[in-house]
Amino acid sequence: MTRPAAPGPLPVDRPRRLRTSAAMRSLVRETTLRPADLVLPMFVREGATEPVAISSMPGVQQHSLDSLVRAGVEAVERGVGGLMLFGVPAWKDAVGSGATDPEGILNVGLARLRAELGDSTVIMADLCLDEFTDHGHCGVLDDDGRVDNDATLERYRAMALAQAEAGAHLLGPSGMMDGQIAAVRDALDAAGHLDVALYAYTAKYASAFYGPFREAVDSSLTGDRRTYQQDPANGREALRELELDVAEGADLVMVKPGLPYLDVLRDVAAASPVPVGAYQVSGEYAMIEAASANGWVDRDRTVLESLLAFRRAGASTVLTYYASEVAGWFADGLPPHLREFR
Ligand code: PBG
Repeated sequence: MTRPAAPGPLPVDRPRRLRTSAAMRSLVRETTLRPADLVLPMFVREGATEPVAISSMPGVQQHSLDSLVRAGVEAVERGVGGLMLFGVPAWKDAVGSGATDPEGILNVGLARLRAELGDSTVIMADLCLDEFTDHGHCGVLDDDGRVDNDATLERYRAMALAQAEAGAHLLGPSGMMDGQIAAVRDALDAAGHLDVALYAYTAKYASAFYGPFREAVDSSLTGDRRTYQQDPANGREALRELELDVAEGADLVMVKPGLPYLDVLRDVAAASPVPVGAYQVSGEYAMIEAASANGWVDRDRTVLESLLAFRRAGASTVLTYYASEVAGWFADGLPPHLREFR
C-alpha cells in the first residue's frame, strides 16, 4: 500500500492526529503532575503574631508559629509531598547563633510542625546561615571578611544536629560550601540520626532570580554570593557538584533556580543515581504573579505549565511557592480550563 498523496511536493506524516481530541491527547501524554511531587517552601518569623505579607511575592507570607502550623496542615491535607521551612529571626550575629539555638525560630518552627504532623509528611529544613548572620552571608567570615569554608562546616554540623533534634526528616544544605554534605552526614551519623536524610542543593547558581527571597527573609546581605554560588554561564560544573554530593552522601539532589536552568536539570537528571528536584525560586514566582496581575498571561495555566516543564526535564520533586494552592486545585478536581493537566 502506498500513502495517499500529500498536499505538498513531499509525503508528510501527520502528528496532528494525536492532538485531535482531549481524549487522544490524554492517551499519549508523557508527563504528569501530582500534588505529592510538590514541596512547599514556608517562612516563619520570630515574634510574629499574625502572618506578614511579602510585597514582592503576593500571596506568600512570613508566618507566625500558629499560622505556620495551620498552613502546613492545610497543605498536607491537600496532598503536597513535603514542607521546606526557612526561619526569619528577630536578631542576628556574626556566626548565626540563632541557627543552632534550640529556641531559635527555625528550630522551634520545625518542632511545632513535627509535633502536629508527625510522619504524615516530609518536614524539611533549610540548612544555611544566611538568615541568621548579621552580614547575610551563608557562612562565617575570616579576618579578611571572606567566607571561611571550613569554619562554616563546623557551624553547619551544629545546625544539622539542632534541626534533627527539632524533628526535621530531611535537611537541605543550601550554602554551597565545599564538603558540606560530608560534614553534615558525619555529624548526623555520629549523633545517631541515621534516618535524617539530606537534600543537597547541588547546582545552585548566583542568580538574580532570588531577588524577592531577600525580602522574604529580611536579608542583611549587601554584596553578593559569587564566591560560593555557581556562575550562571557554567553547565559542566553542575555535574562535578553532582558527583561530589552523591559521593558525600546526598539522598536527593536539587537544581536551582528552575526554569532558566532546565538544561542543567536535564543533564543532572540524566546522570544522577539519586532522585532529582528543582526549585522554582522567588523571582520566577514573582514574574508569573506580575504578568498575571497585568492580565498578560493566564495565571493558573502558566503555573501548571511551568511545573509540568520541571517534570518533563527530569525532576521528581519541585519546590514551589504554588505547591499548596496547586494541590488544592487537584484535591477539588481540576476546573475545566485546567483539565488537560490531569
Ligand atoms: C539561601 C537560600 C536562598 C534561597 C533559598 N535558600 C537565597 C540565596 O541563595 O541568596 C532562594 C530561594 C528563592 O529565591 O525562592 N539560604
